[in-house]
Amino acid sequence: MENSIKIAMEKFEKLLRNQLERVERINAEKEFVDYEKLDKLIIGVVGGDGIGPAITKEAHRILEFLLEDKVKAGKVEFKVIDGLTIENRVACGKAIPDDVLCELKKCHVILKGPTTTPRAGDEWPNIESANVAMRKELDLFANVRPVRVPEKGIDWTFYRENTEGSYALGSDGVHVTDDLAMDFCVATTEGCERIARAAFEYAKKTGKKRVTAVTKANVVKTTDGKFLNICQEVAKDYPGIELDDWYIDIMTAKLVDEKRRTQFEVLVLPNLYGDILTDEAAEFQGGVGTAGSANIGKKYAMFEAIHGSAPRMVKEGRDKYADPCSIIRAGVMLLDHIGESDKARKLEEALDICMFKEKKLVMTGRDTGATGEEFANYIMETIKSL
Ligand code: IPM
Ligand code: MG
Repeated sequence: MENSIKIAMEKFEKLLRNQLERVERINAEKEFVDYEKLDKLIIGVVGGDGIGPAITKEAHRILEFLLEDKVKAGKVEFKVIDGLTIENRVACGKAIPDDVLCELKKCHVILKGPTTTPRAGDEWPNIESANVAMRKELDLFANVRPVRVPEKGIDWTFYRENTEGSYALGSDGVHVTDDLAMDFCVATTEGCERIARAAFEYAKKTGKKRVTAVTKANVVKTTDGKFLNICQEVAKDYPGIELDDWYIDIMTAKLVDEKRRTQFEVLVLPNLYGDILTDEAAEFQGGVGTAGSANIGKKYAMFEAIHGSAPRMVKEGRDKYADPCSIIRAGVMLLDHIGESDKARKLEEALDICMFKEKKLVMTGRDTGATGEEFANYIMETIKSL
C-alpha cells in the first residue's frame, strides 16, 4: 500500500506542476487576436470522423459562397485539414495527431466536424476525446452555446468553461490501488475569471441584464466555491447587470419550469455542468442536432456541431443523408466571430426559412429525405433570394 501511495503522489505532483504551468500560459496570453489587423484570415476546415466529412463539406461550401469576395481579394483563405479521424488518432495513440495539431495552429479559426469519443469497452482504445484535447491544446476556454425558442420566450446563451473543471484531468485520474480510483477537478483564478468576464462582456454588449452562475458550490466547496466567488468579484465591474447564483440540480429542474426559465439570459458555468445543461437546453430547441457551438480562446477559435459522429450512418451508407444544419449553425457563429455579422444574419435567416418555415426539402437521415448537398444548395438558393 505504501508503494501505491508513493506512485500516486508522484503522479499527482506531475499534474500539479502541469497545471501551474498552464496558469502561467494563461497569464501570458492577455489579449484577443484582432482579426481586422490580419493581412489574411485563415479558416481551417476539419471533417473529423463518421458523418463529419460529409456535413462539414456542405458547411464549407456555404461559407466559401458567402465569403467569395474576401477569398478573391486574398483576405480569407480556407485550408482543409485531413487526418483527424479515429483510425489515425488510434494509430498514433494521440487525441490529435501531431501533424494535424501543427496544421490547426496555422489557422485563426476552425470549422470542425464531429469526432468519435472512445470509451471503455468500445472497439477503439480509450484515448482522450479529440474535442476535449483541441479545447485544451488551443486554450479555447469559452464554449458558447446559444439556445433560442422565440415562441416560448427562451433566449439563453450559455458560457461553459471549456478547459478546466472535471475535464482538465479527465484522462489523468489515478487508480491508486485496485480499490481506490480518484479523478480531479481543477479551478484556477485565471480560468474562472476569463470565463466570467466573457459572459459579462457578452451581457453588456447585447444589453442583457442578468448573468446566472450555475455551480454546486454548497457541496463541491473548493473548486465550485472558487468559480462562484470569482463570478461575484467580476460582477462588481458590471453595474447594471445582476448576478444570480443557482445550483446545478435545481437549475436542471428550472429549465423545464415554463414561468421561471424565460428569466434566464446569460448562464456561466463550470465545464461538466455546462456539458449537461446545454444538452438539456438544446432539447427545447429541437435537439442537439439543431445547435451550434463556439469554442473561443484568445488566439484561436473553433466552431462545431454539438452532435456526435454517427458512425452507424456511415456503415449503412447513409452519410450523404446526414443533416448538415448543426454545423451550418456553427458557421453562423464563425461568421459573427470574424466580424461578418451581415453574412451571419443572412445565413441564419436562410436556415430558419429552410428548416422551419418553407421546408421545401426535409432531412430524414435516409433516402426518404434530401441529401446534405441538396439541402446546402437549397440554403444557398435561399440566401440569393433574400
Ligand atoms: C460536447 C460533447 C463533448 C463534451 C464530448 C464529445 C467529449 O458532449 O461538446 O458537449 O463532453 O464536451
Ligand atoms: Mg456534451
